[in-house]
Amino acid sequence: MENTLTLHHVSASYDGKAVLEDISLEIPAHGITAIIGPSGCGKSTLLRCMNGMLREEKGTGISGEILLGGQDIQKMEPEQLRRRVGLVFQTPAPFPFSIYRNMTYALRYYGVRDKKELDRQVREKLEMAGLYEEVSQELDKSAHKLSGGQQQRLCIARALTVEPEVLLLDEPCSALDVKSSSVIERMLVQLKERYTIVIVTHNIAQARRISDHVAFLFGGRLVEFGTTAQIFSEPREEQTRDFLEGIYG
Ligand SMILES: Nc1ncnc2c1ncn2[C@@H]1O[C@H](COP(=O)(O)OP(=O)(O)OP(=O)(O)O)[C@@H](O)[C@H]1O
Ligand SMILES: [Mg+2]
Repeated sequence: MENTLTLHHVSASYDGKAVLEDISLEIPAHGITAIIGPSGCGKSTLLRCMNGMLREEKGTGISGEILLGGQDIQKMEPEQLRRRVGLVFQTPAPFPFSIYRNMTYALRYYGVRDKKELDRQVREKLEMAGLYEEVSQELDKSAHKLSGGQQQRLCIARALTVEPEVLLLDEPCSALDVKSSSVIERMLVQLKERYTIVIVTHNIAQARRISDHVAFLFGGRLVEFGTTAQIFSEPREEQTRDFLEGIYG
């Protein structure tokens, strides 16, 4: 299916040390999949596999296969893959430019020059990220002058400007207060109509609130994958149950 990300027996290592082992998983399209698990279990590494970033890092080894809409990501140009699979990091890192320039940076890179089209895209994506109303009068302001929650939403909006099929988010709310987090949660629930979303979160309650599926990783292995309702009401594996009960968390 289009927009589906499928992993077949994916393993990864840093300098010969295995960190992901034999992960097979199908990320359903147009839903939110939460990746949960204790610190160091490989969540961020898994996201970096999914957009091809890990492959480009020094000292890493990857085996197995990752398909995007049935196409092997290893056979795609890195640039094309990055355009189709966006990654938003834990710490928002807007470019040290204006809000407007952050939002038009990738579009200009891909050759969009028409001012009207750029303006339209800036507005549409800022609206999707729930930020437009707050910043519409100050698009020339430096992005670094926004609050943490606003910067995070700007980074999500910026990632959306290239219309990725899949949006990967690595703990996007970990530095935010409850109010900013809930703004982002509401936004993600709206965005899933249009994009396939994978979110790494330490916040189990957040995974429960917004995700449709949950993948539980432990020690580099996928212990369990299921619908959010199933994972929380009747986990199949004892490790999952223990984690959700806070034993490892
Ligand atoms: N660049 C790197 N070089 C070497 N080892 C790394 C590198 N990045 C991560 N690791 C190791 O790989 C393992 C998985 O790390 P990863 O960052 O994927 O975990 P995580 O589940 O995202 O953890 P956290 O919840 O703390 O963010 C850890 O043992 C970590 O020390
Ligand atoms: Mg991490």
